[in-house]
Amino acid sequence: MVKDPFERTAIFGAGFLMTAFFAAIVISAFGLGIRVPTCVTDIPPFDQPAVVEAAPGQYVVNVVAQMWAFNPREIRIPAGSIVTFNLTSKDVQHGFKILNTNVNLMAIPGVVNRAQARFDQPGEYLIVCHEYCGLGHHAMSAKVIVEPRTAKGPSLPTPRTMASALACWAR
Ligand code: CUA
Repeated sequence: MVKDPFERTAIFGAGFLMTAFFAAIVISAFGLGIRVPTCVTDIPPFDQPAVVEAAPGQYVVNVVAQMWAFNPREIRIPAGSIVTFNLTSKDVQHGFKILNTNVNLMAIPGVVNRAQARFDQPGEYLIVCHEYCGLGHHAMSAKVIVEPRTAKGPSLPTPRTMASALACWAR
């Protein structure tokens, strides 16, 4: 039995506050649909890293770095493509340097870094991790494979896209 009126006030006050906070959590979670932030690598597009053709000759690559690999491991594009790299990390800080280009990024958890490059020369461009990230750091790499452009290349503008682009331009 509590005799001290101050103690009783403190107990009821604390009980009221705890009830109010719990109610606020329940209301925000179920009533307002507020969710706690999740990892950037758990939500699109980084839940499925891939090379995406955004427009003829233009590609977007969503890359996830993690110990000790890049995903995707191989980025295949036709020569002359403009490629935008969106980069994030699943665990620790990594580097992302594409040799013989000006692309030089850091992969940071919770952050998306972006760079763009144009690949005119066919060949292989090595991507290396240049930020020490643990035991397998030295083996962490990927590559951009630039394929020679062919007449039937998938990214050449088709007559239809050319026509719609011209129609757009003529307006
Ligand atoms: Cu990843 Cu060093």
